[in-house]
Amino acid sequence: MEFPIGTASGFLNPNTMSDEDWENLRFECEQVFTPGTPIKQSELFAGRLPQIQKLTQRIRSPGSHAIVYGERGVGKSSLVNVFKFIADQNAARIQYVRVAGVAEDTFTSLFLKVFKRISSESPDGKRRKVADYYLEKEITADDVLLEFEEFSASVTPIIVIDEFDKISSRRVKEEVAETVKLISDEGANVTFFIVGIADSVADLIEGHESIDRAVAQVEMPRMNDQEIIEVIHTRIRGLGLKVTEDALWDCVFLSKGLPFYAHLLGLHACQTACDRKITLVDSSVIEEARSRAIGESNSTIRTNFDDAIHSERKENIFFPVLLACALAPKDVSGRFLAKDVATVLSDLMKQSYGVPAFSYHLDQFATHERGRMLEKLGTTRQFRFRFREALTEPYIILKGKESGLVTPEIEKKYGPTRQRDLFSA
Ligand SMILES: Nc1ncnc2c1ncn2[C@@H]1O[C@H](COP(=O)(O)OP(=O)(O)O)[C@@H](O)[C@H]1O
Ligand SMILES: [Mg+2]
Repeated sequence: MEFPIGTASGFLNPNTMSDEDWENLRFECEQVFTPGTPIKQSELFAGRLPQIQKLTQRIRSPGSHAIVYGERGVGKSSLVNVFKFIADQNAARIQYVRVAGVAEDTFTSLFLKVFKRISSESPDGKRRKVADYYLEKEITADDVLLEFEEFSASVTPIIVIDEFDKISSRRVKEEVAETVKLISDEGANVTFFIVGIADSVADLIEGHESIDRAVAQVEMPRMNDQEIIEVIHTRIRGLGLKVTEDALWDCVFLSKGLPFYAHLLGLHACQTACDRKITLVDSSVIEEARSRAIGESNSTIRTNFDDAIHSERKENIFFPVLLACALAPKDVSGRFLAKDVATVLSDLMKQSYGVPAFSYHLDQFATHERGRMLEKLGTTRQFRFRFREALTEPYIILKGKESGLVTPEIEKKYGPTRQRDLFSA
């Protein structure tokens, strides 16, 4: 059953639209669906209340800090960006500074970026950028502490260091951790948010043990179904288009909780609608959007996939195992267990498979020869797997549909749990 959602007025009428109108609409799609660009306005930001709450607690207690970590494309930068507006409503005066780490950063170059964005009063009463005092000089942890101790007590500076994982020097990252520890011990009125791609805090910062107590660890999980729907639905509606429930659930199934893919699919879906000169986004539109997204986003996906399932022997199970991985239930960071793959594989093949029957295949998928589709995480007994590129999951599922292995029953069983009354509230 498919029916358009929402009865509010403000929908476009395709019969009265000129070619120019369609062209303008195409352009508007690119303004609201922005894969690859973090959100900068709070109106365009969906969900994430628990993470916002965690960060808000931090700025209420001076001298406390947070580390925000998670997968690429999960929404870390967007969270800290919009936090600026949310914090404004919660604290008297916030001075928000965001810098991004780059591979060649030293401790000095990193904090020089911060100091270029804050100012202080010099002895002659003029305001000068703090960086002006450090031209051609090394910056130490103590300098950072002193600068922030001098800060007016009525202002709470929030210093965001994004893309922390990009900094290649281990020592620099350690120094930052030590500095945060020092600032915390001395009770200076400044809050640091360190943000980067990582599976754990230990992954992001070596020597993190020393700051464990001084920082809140905010893991950025994948979005839940409702958050993904919010991302897509509000935008489609905002454009004056309609969308069917089935189309939205298709997007949930394909996005795998990553807002990046929700944006990518939404963009292609709305532009497909423009090309067809229709204002209803239904499952057939999503299907075309999916092919466009996969076709454009990464040509290596196809090559890696071919490498992964290649075999001289006809009776091999590389493809079903890979498909079972794509369908297997994932944790908040896209990780899955071999035992769950066994369940899916048994369902796909209609015969029982135990983990030993395919653990060789799983290991193979992590090798170069087989396209390095998976990464193996954790230690003995606790192994988990994850797709390196989340977009390979929908690609493999598409292949599974083509091959007939993914039947409607399988899709129903391993797809998102649909709540039909989601929009009536
Ligand atoms: N809460 C959100 N609501 C809507 N879109 C989001 C949200 N969080 C992230 N996005 C979108 O998802 C994509 C990835 O977000 P980004 O913040 O850059 O992720 P990360 O920094 O974790 O790599 C961007 O296109 C961004 O616009
Ligand atoms: Mg980012």
